[in-house]
Amino acid sequence: MSLVELKGIRKSFYGVEVLHGVDFSLRAGTVHALMGENGAGKSTLMKVIAGVHKCDSGSIRIDGKEVEIESPAKAQELGVAMIHQELSPVLEMSVAENIYLGREPSHLGFVDYAQLYRQTGELLEELRIPINPRAKMKSLRVADQQMVEIAKAISQNARIVIMDEPTSAITDNEVDSLFRMIRDMKARDVGIIYISHKMAEIFQIADDITVLRDGTYVNTWSASEVDNDTLIHNMVGRELKEQFPKITVPIGETVLQVNNLTLTGQYEDISFELHRGEILGFVGLVGAGRTELMHSIFGMTHPEQGEIYLNGTQVQIKSPKDAIQKGIAYVTEDRKGEGLVLPMSVYHNTTLASLKDFESSGLIQKAKEDKVVAEQVEALGIKVNNVRLPVKSLSGGNQQKVVLAKWMITSPDIIIFDEPTRGIDVGAKSEIYKIMCQFVSQGHAIIMISSEMPEAMGMSDRIVVLSNHKYSGELSREEFSQEAIVQMQFKYM
Ligand SMILES: Nc1ncnc2c1ncn2[C@@H]1O[C@H](COP(=O)(O)OP(=O)(O)O)[C@@H](O)[C@H]1O
Ligand SMILES: [Mg+2]
Repeated sequence: MSLVELKGIRKSFYGVEVLHGVDFSLRAGTVHALMGENGAGKSTLMKVIAGVHKCDSGSIRIDGKEVEIESPAKAQELGVAMIHQELSPVLEMSVAENIYLGREPSHLGFVDYAQLYRQTGELLEELRIPINPRAKMKSLRVADQQMVEIAKAISQNARIVIMDEPTSAITDNEVDSLFRMIRDMKARDVGIIYISHKMAEIFQIADDITVLRDGTYVNTWSASEVDNDTLIHNMVGRELKEQFPKITVPIGETVLQVNNLTLTGQYEDISFELHRGEILGFVGLVGAGRTELMHSIFGMTHPEQGEIYLNGTQVQIKSPKDAIQKGIAYVTEDRKGEGLVLPMSVYHNTTLASLKDFESSGLIQKAKEDKVVAEQVEALGIKVNNVRLPVKSLSGGNQQKVVLAKWMITSPDIIIFDEPTRGIDVGAKSEIYKIMCQFVSQGHAIIMISSEMPEAMGMSDRIVVLSNHKYSGELSREEFSQEAIVQMQFKYM
């Protein structure tokens, strides 16, 4: 009997179905790898088991018994633990507090810290994880934070452990200790679902392999009877049914040139050119180094080696402020964290990056500021009744437009978009694409990081592919094919 059995799982976000009736089953005491391109639905499917998302239809059985997993607490009760792609430990708390959060030993109504640290110490020792139970979570490296999350799963006696791309941020040595823990868990009949793009690792650790494509189940193989090429072949081929409002404009001179840029561990020896009128797509698997590369081009980090030229002149980009002065804008992936101050008004968010432009002898020129905000609301079609409303009251699509408005008034020449339409409804998506086209048709240029194959292929003039922090190749629009792009993504994995 299967430990977990999913049948016909469907899930939509904002009216768009992303899981179209997926089946999946996990045997106790095995590692089951889940593979598929970015956006295939792996994380979403796992979040359904972990109680993060409730599926719209379909059934979940654990030990043959049908269950409803309506919350993470319920999942935990059923023995499910998920180590997320984006870890969410409580960073200010200690290792021990993170492991036993909500289950702390107590005495007379107070947390018994002596006991908490003692039992954490025993647990970590048993698991051979050399971490101090009193250490603050934030002082640990990502790999160690991950180990703590695994220790937590084990301490909960989880029987179903889901690991979402656990090795994307850790070194080979750390992979060895991770695999040792996985083998220990297997021996205790735990079932492990392992999401990864790293073929070599998968063949080392997995018993079964399932491929998802475009929110559908493709096939399951025993790891011993399938090879690399078969897996890749089965992953590609997302249906390209969406229409994109792409307009091609004449390509002009080089506006940005990057030569051999390196920041060890983040991106290595990257060279590319960006031209006026161009949307240059950056594609890669999660962790390929795309965002890290863009952080350096926006002055948030500094490359160790290599050169950056703007309009033919070599430049050092010292800080984001410097980047903005040089005409670069960066629309982050993390709209809510870095892009916007959510409780603040649409109005104030819009002028946040350019307040000094409205200053005259220390005073803000209200009239000028009002005018600029009104212009942007109009130009970008931001749907808001009153610009004094907090930006958090807007839909995802309109929030993204406020981020854009903020950048547009800095008069950028180059905009870097990091996952421009993640979590945005279809209508707003299309409007954002139109704004992008309009921007490049004025002789400006765009770099677009995208993990959505249809978007990358639909909107880019050219695509650069990174694989495992390295430049893997590039394709012009005529050469675009999913197969070619995916092959390049896996080149250095
Ligand atoms: N919270 C969300 N809101 C809206 N769309 C989402 C959300 N989470 C995932 N999606 C969309 O669902 C699809 C599958 O995403 P995901 O499960 O993260 O894929 P994978 O883990 O295989 O890369 C993608 O098109 C993604 O944009
Ligand atoms: Mg994922």
